[in-house]
Amino acid sequence: MKNSARIDPRQAAGEKAAHLAKDGMVVGLGTGTTAAWAIEELGRRVASGLDILGVPTSYQSAFLAAECGITLTTLDEHPVLDIDIDGADQIAGFIAIKGGGGAHTQEKIVASSSKEFIVVVDESKCAKVLDHPVPLEVLPFARRLVEKQIQKLGGKAELRLGIKKYGPVISDNGNFIMDVDFGEINDPVSLGEKLSQCTGVVEHGIFTKIDAVYIGRKDGSVEIQEA
Ligand code: A5P
Repeated sequence: MKNSARIDPRQAAGEKAAHLAKDGMVVGLGTGTTAAWAIEELGRRVASGLDILGVPTSYQSAFLAAECGITLTTLDEHPVLDIDIDGADQIAGFIAIKGGGGAHTQEKIVASSSKEFIVVVDESKCAKVLDHPVPLEVLPFARRLVEKQIQKLGGKAELRLGIKKYGPVISDNGNFIMDVDFGEINDPVSLGEKLSQCTGVVEHGIFTKIDAVYIGRKDGSVEIQEA
């Protein structure tokens, strides 16, 4: 068996994308298992002299980046990032569904602040048509109202519940997360716009502005698709 065959496809994608970072860049640090591979590789590169600042998208990525020796900054100090590397739950073309880890609000703010947004996935995340439930971050006070609005849009909303914690998941921003099943999403741009208009929805997990996708394959190779 070749060496590359033993590499986790998420690891392959995350590590390869980490090499897009160059000296002097401000880099968005995504959330989730695939983005974690990128953060760890960035940490190794920092240990060998790479000079970057990182903007985390969650407590998870902030803690990991600190462990990896990446100096962190904020959007207040650096409102424009050079590059942002993040995972996705599902991707079709250059539109992704994110928020499996409940971090999509901060992820979208960081991605929207970045000159380049790179998505890292393994091939199992690639679909022809998006049909993954769409995560919503919802103000707790608006839970019932959001459910009603979602029903009108044809979705079935489920409050995300904690593991090793009774009751709802509370996001890093102190809000609830709902996962909404819309079945096949034939027009994700339009659905995203409608979700943005729902009162009480802080942010939805449809990401429409992606510059490149790094797809890790089982044989350890990485396919790069540029928009
Ligand atoms: C976090 O809220 C998500 O958007 C993650 O980026 C997404 O769920 C992908 O995570 P994995 O790389 O762990 O699958």
